[in-house]
Amino acid sequence: MEGDERQRGGARLTWTGRPPSAAGAGGDSSWNHQRHEGGHHRRGGGGGGAGNKRWKRDDGNGASRHQPRGLREDDEGHLWWDERTNVCTYFQDRRRKWPFYTDARGHVLLKSLVEANAALRNRNLALMRQLGDKMGVPADRVANEGERLYVNKPTLRGDDNVTWSFDEYGHPGLQLYYLKLKSWQRFTETYALLERADRLGAFAFASSLGRPVRIATLGGGPGYELLAMRCFLRDTKSLPDVDIYNTDVQPTWREYSEALGFGFRVFDIHNVTADLCDVCELGTDELDMVVISYVAIYFAKVPGNPQHEAACDMLFKLLKDRRVKMLVVSERSEETPLCSMMERRGCIAERLMDQDMGLDERQSIIVLKERRDEILTKRRLPPGEQRKLEANEATFKNVPFEEHKIKRGGAAGAGGSQTKWYD
Ligand SMILES: C[S@@+](CC[C@H](N)C(=O)[O-])C[C@H]1O[C@@H](n2cnc3c(N)ncnc32)[C@H](O)[C@@H]1O
Repeated sequence: MEGDERQRGGARLTWTGRPPSAAGAGGDSSWNHQRHEGGHHRRGGGGGGAGNKRWKRDDGNGASRHQPRGLREDDEGHLWWDERTNVCTYFQDRRRKWPFYTDARGHVLLKSLVEANAALRNRNLALMRQLGDKMGVPADRVANEGERLYVNKPTLRGDDNVTWSFDEYGHPGLQLYYLKLKSWQRFTETYALLERADRLGAFAFASSLGRPVRIATLGGGPGYELLAMRCFLRDTKSLPDVDIYNTDVQPTWREYSEALGFGFRVFDIHNVTADLCDVCELGTDELDMVVISYVAIYFAKVPGNPQHEAACDMLFKLLKDRRVKMLVVSERSEETPLCSMMERRGCIAERLMDQDMGLDERQSIIVLKERRDEILTKRRLPPGEQRKLEANEATFKNVPFEEHKIKRGGAAGAGGSQTKWYD
């Protein structure tokens, strides 16, 4: 489940893939074991379930002991830039305990994320005030309730087995924490995914398309994965015009999505009579990619479950009948059943993370088997080579993080999802 925590052991493994100018040409991209001082090193994970945590207000308690270098670039201390060393430090977790690093390129992208997010944060403040007025409480109380929902995840602790419910996603206080934290996570992960997909030639089709690339999401929420896609295609593929269709079952994401510049449509993945292309008013062969970011656990978690199988049938029809080129999938768990469920239908799930340390299905491109070579035009690197290349070239290194794989013994010790997650 997204966002839950598990106690980590005393040894903390850190990626020291510093940007080249901080570590000399080529960068210092080795894995280090470091002793983490103090006992509060926790990051994500599901073992104990969300219920084992005590919710604390985000008032600085337990905040990072890591003091990033340089200047703070956002109000909340998630983004720091040190021009002297060319190191940009950013945090994706609520208490800023887990530093990640990028260079000037990543810094520019993350600064633009902060700028884009400002409009969403302003709108969110107005919505929290509105709800507060209705309830006769200050907006702060709405924010506190949102933080409680974000950290405690009462729905996850119940029978529904999803992170947050429809109503919780519609709560402006929860939305505040979503905007504050998921913005970093989704943006950097999607960007890293796209760099991996690009190495397989996944966007070669765009140059001969003769029209803008068209991308739709399922369960897109505010749309940070789309923001990353737009930045990536514009900056690295020179595709300034991308048509984007954000969809979600929760209608209140609309105004956030529109504030990012993306049209929004209400679409329920479980509505077997609806067709995503119709909803986007597109014909066959007119939609290129469908992005599924952190939503597969809502509809493709249990093979054999009729509702989940029906949702996969719907995706298969998009690929087969509507000629969507690829599904772009990002998930939390190293075992993401959507991959094998689609493979059973005649697709190939190209798992984009280096598989050298065991199965990792957190990022994938899913295509029809017969279209694989047409769409993924380049060969992948041998296991281990990809990791080396990413250590030097990736914009957002160690995203999604992989320290835990080393800790459990690499491929030899791998088995099942042990992914921990930021809160
Ligand atoms: C974890 S959020 C992911 C949001 C966004 N894709 C991201 O990566 O930040 C899950 C999203 O799935 C949406 N969702 C849940 N069930 C859905 C369904 N049946 N149809 C469409 N969207 C759904 C929720 O409203 C929520 O916005």
